[in-house]
Amino acid sequence: MKIAIANDHGGVELKQHLVEYLTAQGHEVVNLGADDTASSHYPIYAARVAKAVLSGACDKGVLICGTGLGISISANKIRGIRCAACSEPVSAALARRHNDANIVAMGARTIGPVMAEAIVDAFLTAQFEGGRHQLRVDMIAKLENGEPLE
Ligand code: RB5
Repeated sequence: MKIAIANDHGGVELKQHLVEYLTAQGHEVVNLGADDTASSHYPIYAARVAKAVLSGACDKGVLICGTGLGISISANKIRGIRCAACSEPVSAALARRHNDANIVAMGARTIGPVMAEAIVDAFLTAQFEGGRHQLRVDMIAKLENGEPLE
């Protein structure tokens, strides 16, 4: 799989760990994040990964900031992005199975590298189940368009 990954200054070390981990697993990893700890702005990195995923250049995205929150909130402002901030693998798998999430986000200050590996493993292997979940994902798209749901 081709994976876009990015991070702000809070996520440099965890990003480097995941680039090595995912590459060793045979994935092609495109690093769009900060590579030093100078203060930077997480919305920029969210936008880069969102663009890579929405354009089809990459299959899925991984975002890292201090908490995983600012960067996921930013990504979810972009039409077509469903970014799940996860701190454990069950949510990461369900974000794929039920929400068809196309980006996973995590917090370098809240989880360790082994948990991050479990999260990306779960996210990248689980499959969207469609059916009633597709109806709800379609409703999310309607919200993006300002369309009423009821
Ligand atoms: C940066 O200090 C920090 O605010 C950022 O990495 C993230 O945690 C924001 O949600």
